[in-house]
Amino acid sequence: MTPATSRIRIVGSFDDLVNASFGPEVNAICWARQLPGNFDEIAALLQDEEDILSLDEEAIETLRPRLSEQGRIAADILLADRQLLHERGLLPSLECVPRYPRDDDNAVPTDVYSFHADRAPVQADTYLCSYNESSSEGLDNASAQRRIDNPVTRQKLQDLFANEGGDSFDEFLREHCYDLHYAPLPNAVRYSFGIGNMWRIAVEYPGSPVAPCIHRAPDTVDGRPPRLLLIS
Ligand SMILES: [Fe+2]
Repeated sequence: MTPATSRIRIVGSFDDLVNASFGPEVNAICWARQLPGNFDEIAALLQDEEDILSLDEEAIETLRPRLSEQGRIAADILLADRQLLHERGLLPSLECVPRYPRDDDNAVPTDVYSFHADRAPVQADTYLCSYNESSSEGLDNASAQRRIDNPVTRQKLQDLFANEGGDSFDEFLREHCYDLHYAPLPNAVRYSFGIGNMWRIAVEYPGSPVAPCIHRAPDTVDGRPPRLLLIS
């Protein structure tokens, strides 16, 4: 696998994924994998779910009797990946996602379909793996503009702030996460996280040595099976 931008580092093992350093430019580390097994079978069994489900071991084991051998291989991988992160002291969640809530705010939508950075109050990373359907998408930082830096958008937010009131405009932007959302510039470099690859991406936190990785969830297509993903 060839990295799409100089901000991505490709590694070959989970240990390298965990231990590789971010910086000076790198803000996304990818454990590139081609997984065996049939994840679509698991997603098909969850086709009728309306809401986002967090799948624990019991939920996976309940599905297992209805899976073929390839489906069971996929189930084992989901549980093993979850366990890998768990053993590192992280809080992984194996999710079945039919769709995410959409934010129809016309100034700055703040849903996960919009390119955004994650933020944490203390040092943290985001881990992500998509197992079926479409995967998360990244945006090179040089190809992105914070939505709040667009003069038209900023004016709309200033009007909103004037209506709602508050101590400071900057605090207002942070509180609503408006400052975390980005628009792709013309000819932006976007990249797919791909299916089966496990990613560790940089988050915005006080003192972070590197710019956060900008990413988004893929658009949901009606009638398609839910996405299976691991997130921490
Ligand atoms: Fe995110």
